[in-house]
Amino acid sequence: MTTLQLPGLIDAHVHLREPGYTYKEDFYSGTAAALAGGVTTVLDMPNTQPPTATPDALAAKAALAAAKAVCDVGLFVGAVNTMPIQHVTDGYLPVAQQACGLKIYVSETFGSLRIEELGPMHALFRTWAEKAAETGYRTPENPSGIGPIAVHAEDMMLAVCLNLSHLYDVPLHIVHVSRRSEIELIRRAKERGLPVTCEATPHHLFLSTEDVSHLGTRGDMRPKLATPDDVAALWENLHVLDIFATDHAPHTLTEKQSDAPPPGVPGVETMLPLLLTAVDEGKLTLEQVIERCVTAPRRIYGLPQQADTTVQVDIEKPYTLADAAQLCKPGWTPFAGRRVVGRVERVTLRGRLVYEAGKVLAEPGSGQVLFQQKIGANRG
Ligand code: DOR
Ligand code: ZN
Repeated sequence: MTTLQLPGLIDAHVHLREPGYTYKEDFYSGTAAALAGGVTTVLDMPNTQPPTATPDALAAKAALAAAKAVCDVGLFVGAVNTMPIQHVTDGYLPVAQQACGLKIYVSETFGSLRIEELGPMHALFRTWAEKAAETGYRTPENPSGIGPIAVHAEDMMLAVCLNLSHLYDVPLHIVHVSRRSEIELIRRAKERGLPVTCEATPHHLFLSTEDVSHLGTRGDMRPKLATPDDVAALWENLHVLDIFATDHAPHTLTEKQSDAPPPGVPGVETMLPLLLTAVDEGKLTLEQVIERCVTAPRRIYGLPQQADTTVQVDIEKPYTLADAAQLCKPGWTPFAGRRVVGRVERVTLRGRLVYEAGKVLAEPGSGQVLFQQKIGANRG
């Protein structure tokens, strides 16, 4: 067997659904699925119930993750649209340093966190910049700084967010870029020196509108699958894409087959085999994968190193991705039926064997919750 050894991957965009939607996923099942995908750190999004938008909600979520996670977890705080803006910023600003970043939804999404007006958007960027003036942004030298603002901003809203980032000099991370117009505008922003980074998902890199007819609602997510020309633009602009992240957004098959299917697809288990298959096909280099799945997310979010952490992958035997092999709660993947190379055989986290041959060996709670020192939820 030809075995490749990689560092533990970072998936900088997952929805682990706890609290509120644990029938879809929870901190144990989602982080177990992450290990099966060679991922040893995940950054969890705030659109849970309740949303992660107050100190209490963040502390409660950190305690749940500390008790259940089997890989390391960073938590986003989220901007909510249900309170006067002053109360919103009062809510998460005191705990901004305990979050990996601030997530703002300005485009259509799952849940109720969407911000649709300039007033709150302006206040969010202004107050984040004020907080950064106190704490600095998080780097290895400044671990108690705050992270970037991450936005789900499609189409015209992307230009609004780029402008606010520029006006306040706030580092901006654009999640799941999917269209030619977007990646080309981000390229322009980077050329002009704006503090902007971005990510693309495996589903936007490896699927397109041409797959919608056979996938049905299994191919429905936000942003929606884009045209083959949009997909080509992402590949042409690989140098503009800082991160590959999954937007692991588990929903049950029953929900996906209902009259009102929620948008989103699982992804944390299938990213590495899809990327290694692209390496095998000469579309990517291994160095480009490691830069986008380890080095860049660590730099952008200021994540700590994980000592003695490795992933061993069989890169010899092709296999077919299948629903039945998925460890995530919904147990399906939009990539079912796809031939890939790159099967995760073994994962070691901080010197302990945590995953081997399809089995999660780590104890619930053995993962660390990042940045929680000041609210006391870190079990070390
Ligand atoms: O497809 C999506 N699913 N896009 C989002 O923005 C949210 C996510 C979810 O939470 O299900
Ligand atoms: Zn998401």
